[in-house]
Amino acid sequence: MTAPRHFLDIAALSREELRAILDEAHARKALRLDWPNAKPDEDAPLADHALAMIFQKNSTRTRVSFEIAMTQLGGHAIALSAADTQLGRGESIEDTARVLSRMVDAVMMRANKHDDLVNFAHAADVPVINGLTDLSHPCQIVADIMTIEEWAGDIAGKTIAWLGDGNNVCASFVHAGEKLDFKLRIATPPGYAPCAREIAAARAAGADVAVSTDARATIAGADVVVTDTWVSMGDVDKDARMAAFPPYAVTDDMMACASKEALFLHCLPAHRGEEVSAAVIDGPQSAVWDEAENRVHAQKAVLMWCQGKL
Ligand code: CP
Ligand code: NVA
Repeated sequence: MTAPRHFLDIAALSREELRAILDEAHARKALRLDWPNAKPDEDAPLADHALAMIFQKNSTRTRVSFEIAMTQLGGHAIALSAADTQLGRGESIEDTARVLSRMVDAVMMRANKHDDLVNFAHAADVPVINGLTDLSHPCQIVADIMTIEEWAGDIAGKTIAWLGDGNNVCASFVHAGEKLDFKLRIATPPGYAPCAREIAAARAAGADVAVSTDARATIAGADVVVTDTWVSMGDVDKDARMAAFPPYAVTDDMMACASKEALFLHCLPAHRGEEVSAAVIDGPQSAVWDEAENRVHAQKAVLMWCQGKL
């Protein structure tokens, strides 16, 4: 049996694989403009395929976009809250992976711990997709890059500024930088920088990434400004975070330091008045609703890649 094609992190993809996934996402979106959401694509490339989705954490976008993605590809999706399965009563990750591998063609997992995702993938005979862990959120970044390409053209050479927490979403941006030749500038409060080992690995692989605590210097001239919640699912230090992050809020004043046409992105859910002002997220430079919609198109391409169809 050939090894399944897992989608656990962007860092593990080749440049060509990531480009193929992005091209497929753009092409499939273009082919179904104004179609009803649940109508399958003409070629229904995953007809007769089933996806199981395991959620150890809350989700709106990831759950709905994967389910609609499978419907559009002609297949079927099953959403499982981990707590409602036997995982919640102590059945092992590995046994769950073995059982689901006999029933479905791929598994998407949103896991509390990245190691659980990796262990699940090792035990599975079908492709496993990272639907967010404490360490990364690669599906989100495929949709983000797609959105940047739609609004601003080729991402190569563009400067992307990340303000706020050096979290899971930020880590997947770091992984993508080495594949797509954009400049990544990250500003976080002291103590909230992305993992230094990951930054060093990205640089060694050719990424142009800089990490600072100076928000205004980081955003200066940026083509794209990105932020995320200051308190991610599983974070237990809310008070310290709410005290540390306000200088990194994306306000009109902060956006004025970026390039005049700079795009604003946020994976959502957003907290207006915290990491972003209402004026910015609801303003003309914000692409957050396209970004959310693009989760569907991005997921479809990821699912096809996992099934060996790209
Ligand atoms: N951006 C994102 O992953 O949203 P959900 O948590 O709603 O899935
Ligand atoms: N960083 C956030 C992303 C939510 C989609 C979290 O992990 O909660």
